[in-house]
Amino acid sequence: MCGIVGYVGPSSALDVLLGGLKRLEYRGYDSAGISVVTNGEIQTQKRAGKLQVLIDQLSASPMADAQMGIGHTRWATHGAPTDGNAHPHNAGAEQISLIHNGIIENFSELKKKLVSEGIEFESETDSEVAAHLLASEFANTGDFEKSFVSVANALQGAFTILAINKSDPGLVMAARRNSPLVLGVGDGENFLGSDVAAFVDYTKTAISVGQDQIVKLRADGFELIDFNGNPVEHEEFKVHWDASAASKGGWESFMAKEISEEPQAVGDTLMGRLDANGDVNLSEFDGLSIENLENINRIIITACGTAAYAGEVAKYAIEQLARISVSVELAHELRYRNPVIDEKTLVVAISQSGETMDTLMAIRHASERGAKVLSICNTQGATLARESDATIYTHAGPEVAVASTKAFSAQITAGYLLALFLAHATGKTENLNQLGKELLSLPRKVKTTLEMTGDVAEFANQLKDIQSVLFLGRNVGFPIAMEGALKLKELSYIHAEGFAAGELKHGPIALIEPGQVVIVLVPAPSSAESLHAKVLANIQEINARGAKVIAIAEQGDDEVAEFAEKVFYTPKTDPLLSPVLSVVPLHIFSMELAKAKGLDVDQPRNLAKSVTVE
Ligand code: F6R
Repeated sequence: MCGIVGYVGPSSALDVLLGGLKRLEYRGYDSAGISVVTNGEIQTQKRAGKLQVLIDQLSASPMADAQMGIGHTRWATHGAPTDGNAHPHNAGAEQISLIHNGIIENFSELKKKLVSEGIEFESETDSEVAAHLLASEFANTGDFEKSFVSVANALQGAFTILAINKSDPGLVMAARRNSPLVLGVGDGENFLGSDVAAFVDYTKTAISVGQDQIVKLRADGFELIDFNGNPVEHEEFKVHWDASAASKGGWESFMAKEISEEPQAVGDTLMGRLDANGDVNLSEFDGLSIENLENINRIIITACGTAAYAGEVAKYAIEQLARISVSVELAHELRYRNPVIDEKTLVVAISQSGETMDTLMAIRHASERGAKVLSICNTQGATLARESDATIYTHAGPEVAVASTKAFSAQITAGYLLALFLAHATGKTENLNQLGKELLSLPRKVKTTLEMTGDVAEFANQLKDIQSVLFLGRNVGFPIAMEGALKLKELSYIHAEGFAAGELKHGPIALIEPGQVVIVLVPAPSSAESLHAKVLANIQEINARGAKVIAIAEQGDDEVAEFAEKVFYTPKTDPLLSPVLSVVPLHIFSMELAKAKGLDVDQPRNLAKSVTVE
């Protein structure tokens, strides 16, 4: 939540800051603002609304350019999205300017003290306390760097703060605790951002700033210190994607582009990890030696939202192939229920951003109890990867649309690789190569699915006034039903619920009334234990009550067409692998329905892509 950018160097600070904010806007879009120092004075402009509102304001009343500055795009926590609550916050008679991402838990106590000293607050945010605290420390000490370190130590909770001081316009100070921050290393210029997207236009060399670290950023260099002021080591990494990967590139929305990239996300995630014989090679496991794996007696997969549904698919795959007991736990629930976790537990955390606070808190809790942590993560340099024993990166590329699509396909794919790897490691090799080879064909089949679902748009348009949609699935189709419902809620603001089809008779069937739209994930006729027949029976039960059934079924399954108003077909594959295909029409359906309703599919209301607060 909240996107942060900082810059010092010879380029136009306005270009760097606004360009960075544009790329970070998916992190929050309630308000935006920037501060620069020109002619020894801080200049700030900030506005409620999307970044474009600020850009329009800057066109109407331009501000002088500068060679340094800070910028912020907000997802409101404390205080409504208003001009006054937008960042930056200035203090000390415009001596300093500060931006913040996170939640300052002791803000009320700090605010009381500052108010008792006569300081007046202009916003309802927790962030403004950090600005006043810094200004008052600086007024007492006259040393900006020391004052900044002292403020970082006084704050509790989650924060990335960046601050500038009009008396030293060549310096941006930054601190990080429980909130993301990366540094971009340029040539004669340096950058800070919530993630590398903030500066990938200018440099591909980055440093992931560690927990409780402070950065002193200047044009000709930077220093990293801890909260006690001691220098800390850092390691550079290279960003593997181009700025063009994070731009729309002619598509009408990031979501449309990202759905079209699902085949590539699956293919790139498999690349180099599965050979033509279907043998899996996960060198990422070096951090988790085989001896450790041999001691594992259970796996807990933890994640939030869409990533948790990818985890559910991984559970089916790992249990079926490797015969290790797996449970999937929402990270925010796992952390606070005193779970049974010990050194025999492998915790697998799944996250696109690698910065979801709930997921980070869950893995910290698990590590403290001796568990090994393996992450499946899409973002290089993310906190999750840094704090895990090993990481399988999904190579979905940057995902900008707030609702996850291609990253989900890549997460499921990584889950299959993990299942194959664990099955090999535990000697359960029967049929593995065959499945591995089928996995290799998935990128092509996802592409075919995209081609086969061309008429979803027209269909979604006809349904644009519906009030509620139910999704039913069974076995690996159940998490896909949940994902279909989540995506529809997020994008179209329509009431949607996913159920296990077998659960229908235990309650949800009461919701069925004439005209109720029900989307059913139909298992392949070849699926285990004749689930196909059982799901067809479910369809008949709801048909009998007047439901309008839309089915997602395997090509060649003609029987289902007799009972459904519309069938979207997907290519044949192993039933275990079908989620990567069956989710495609659901992603397109949600996007098209939202478009038909005139909604913003990239930035749905109230959401932010990276949920960095608990
Ligand atoms: C839904 C969606 C969210 C995320 C969830 C976890 O479309 O995108 O439910 O999946 O917030 O985010 P990450 O994967 O970044 O941990």
